[in-house]
Amino acid sequence: MSEELVQLKIDDIDVRVPKGTLVVNAAKQAGIEIPVFCHHPKIESVGMCRMCLVEIGTPKRDRSTGENILDKSGQPQIEFWPKLETSCTMPVSEGMVVKVSSDKAVEGRKQILEFLLTSHPLDCPVCDKGGECSLQDLAMGHGSGESRFLLDDKKHQDKHVQLGDLIVLDRERCVQCARCIRYQEEVTGDPVLAFAERGRNIEIVTFSDPGFDSYFSGNTTDICPVGALTTADFRFGARSWEMDATASICTHCPVGCNLMLNTRREASANGRQVIKRVMPRQNERVNEIWICDKGRFAHHFATSDERLTKPLVRIDGKLVKTSWKKALERAAEGLKAAGEDVVGLASGRVSNEDLYYFHSLLKSVGGQAVLSDPQAGGELVQQVGVGQGTDLGALGAGDAILVIASDLHEEAPIWWQRVMGAAKRGAALVVANARKTRLDDYAVHKVRYRYQEAARTGLGLLHAITGAKDLSKFSGDEPLKSAAKALAEAENLVIFYGVEGLTYAESKSLSEACAAILVETKNVGRAQNGLIAVWPKSNTQGAWDMGLRPAEEDLENALASAKAVYIMAVDPVGDDPSLAESLEGDRFLVVQELFMTQTAELADVVLPAESFIEREGTFTSGERRVQRFYPAVKALGEAKADWRIITSLAANLGLELESSSAAAVFLQIADSNEAYTELSYQSLAEVEEQWPPVGENDLYFGGTTFKNRQGLGVQLAPAAEKDQSIKIKWSVPPEFKSKKGLLLVPVVELYDRGATVIPSEILHPRLASPLLRMSLKDAKSVGVVQGAQIELLIDGRTEELQAIAEEGVPDGVVLLGRGLGVPIAEPGYVEVRLKA
Ligand code: SF4
Ligand code: SF4
Ligand code: FES
Repeated sequence: MSEELVQLKIDDIDVRVPKGTLVVNAAKQAGIEIPVFCHHPKIESVGMCRMCLVEIGTPKRDRSTGENILDKSGQPQIEFWPKLETSCTMPVSEGMVVKVSSDKAVEGRKQILEFLLTSHPLDCPVCDKGGECSLQDLAMGHGSGESRFLLDDKKHQDKHVQLGDLIVLDRERCVQCARCIRYQEEVTGDPVLAFAERGRNIEIVTFSDPGFDSYFSGNTTDICPVGALTTADFRFGARSWEMDATASICTHCPVGCNLMLNTRREASANGRQVIKRVMPRQNERVNEIWICDKGRFAHHFATSDERLTKPLVRIDGKLVKTSWKKALERAAEGLKAAGEDVVGLASGRVSNEDLYYFHSLLKSVGGQAVLSDPQAGGELVQQVGVGQGTDLGALGAGDAILVIASDLHEEAPIWWQRVMGAAKRGAALVVANARKTRLDDYAVHKVRYRYQEAARTGLGLLHAITGAKDLSKFSGDEPLKSAAKALAEAENLVIFYGVEGLTYAESKSLSEACAAILVETKNVGRAQNGLIAVWPKSNTQGAWDMGLRPAEEDLENALASAKAVYIMAVDPVGDDPSLAESLEGDRFLVVQELFMTQTAELADVVLPAESFIEREGTFTSGERRVQRFYPAVKALGEAKADWRIITSLAANLGLELESSSAAAVFLQIADSNEAYTELSYQSLAEVEEQWPPVGENDLYFGGTTFKNRQGLGVQLAPAAEKDQSIKIKWSVPPEFKSKKGLLLVPVVELYDRGATVIPSEILHPRLASPLLRMSLKDAKSVGVVQGAQIELLIDGRTEELQAIAEEGVPDGVVLLGRGLGVPIAEPGYVEVRLKA
């Protein structure tokens, strides 16, 4: 939008806004409410509902000179247009006069509202939107108070239409604003909704199979201005005014979407406070006003009956319930006996406070704290991560984005949505992967490599950009060269790198190549530029920042050589059965967890941990934004926050760790970590005005998204922002060693069957199936017909599952989703044979 300003008057208030601003938005900025239904600031205006009618006047011009005609007082004469106009489609113009509150405008809107209500069922007492419904608000503010239409004359339509597994449509309540259709088309790239029929018979339909097939479907229930679209999860669950609202952060991926947890005491849960629904909380730099369906619906794990609620110790070979005192004494005894031979293993699923204390405790006893997430480059993100103030929503023409070795749609859906948006605005999107992903459809450059060549492709791009002789062996031809040119010429460049098909050593090399590209192209140390790791867990970057590192050698060796192992928030045995041996025998094992995992079953002591909804803390997102989450419900059973368990364990070991509050632990982090120096719980809770305004009296404007009053978090400055002389050393990845068999590559599917997804039954119809995906050629040579039962020989074990042939799977490769019941640690060669 042009920065040229335009002066106009709205209800006698002088307003100056950028040229091109819509009248409805100009009014909003001046604090004047114009009611809307179909208009939504995040999607294109269409002027469908006529709710925003206003009177528009413009200066009268002399046709011969083009000059304004002045009245006696020397002011431009204003000529009002004969009909009321839709302010959501009308751009402002110099000298325009807008009347929102004139009798004519008020009467016009009253008639539109009466017309909208002619077919509305008025079933507010049983409608989920009741209490937060635009139609209710507007009927109160702009309606006539009584209807001239008889109920029996109303058009009745279907009321419980299951649009998909997650979303239910009440056709009678629909006001045909098309927000849902346009959101799906414009913002998500999943155009699966449409209008069918005409006139009063018009209705919303879905034409995907399965119905309403989109990872973002829940957002339509927020922006639907009435109760036509509701989630199957919350439907008839509670009234909006009965629920408490607590700010939180999603823990399912590294985007760090801002959430609001709506809770209520439930008779069915013995009077406990439980989560009734998860809603987006506005943070324009992170998730805007959206969340994906996993973030919205996969919350049931936190309140699952399967949660651990009491400490357990092993007595006579069996795990039995005990007191915290006894469990901690036993854990401390076992760790003490191991001396310095202790390995701690944790994942990025838990908070910074937990990870900082975990690391501190391991350091104090002389042990080693290992990060289980097998992706490299956290220290590079600390150096050349995206600059402070980065907003993916601001990337567009002239900018470039590289996504390499990652399927963002499955791994981080809101990043996928925002990257796709940047590409639509003209950013040069380069997608490099061994197979086609959904982002390819929006890419201007697609670089295809063979699995195990991702790092070499990164170095190839670096060579094409720098021409460095020592990189010449990685040189490539088109389209790598034209992709490199697009990266080199971009004004701003953001690189996302994942770990699909990579070993840890390859991931290290790829992350270095990506960081070096950013340094060589001088796209570091400022907003809208830098490196983003698509981490496997929500707080993996926080884990790196708190000092944890993946195992130098392989994890099996690290665990096998320890006398005691302390595991927090990870199930190594469930993820890789070959690790079970390393954890059995005389080795003393403490597991701190939410659930009785396969690893916990081997433990000597099991300590029940609180989930993120029961405690407070901070997470650091992939964009290195540190954000707070708050306790929404009471702890389940005797579970405690991980950091609190560690302080108690430390006390039993004769060590002292501050134990008063999570905020006090965070202050220690700020004291010990330069990047976090300026931060405190107070600074993370600061907010500023955001556009578009949502929440409060603006319910109709942005939908039921919550206004952010609890903190926008703070994006950390990468080292490059303070010191521009950063140099990145790149390393050659290990030689590609082809072996007999097919290369099994674990890939991420959003709806996996892990412990944090399975308890959400609503997602069961959408869960990914444990299917082995093969190329058409390989399927033919193995003799696989669709859905054939096969045996997969992997790491000396045999797994039975179904296989399918799928276009786009490279020859010589088989793909299998992670967390679907067949554990796969990293890519490796396997044998596939038909089950006899
Ligand atoms: S279902 Fe809701 S969002 Fe969609 S057209 Fe109807 S009223 Fe609008
Ligand atoms: S995109 Fe990631 S962080 Fe956001 S709601 Fe989905 S899973 Fe959660
Ligand atoms: S026509 Fe303007 S809000 Fe619908």
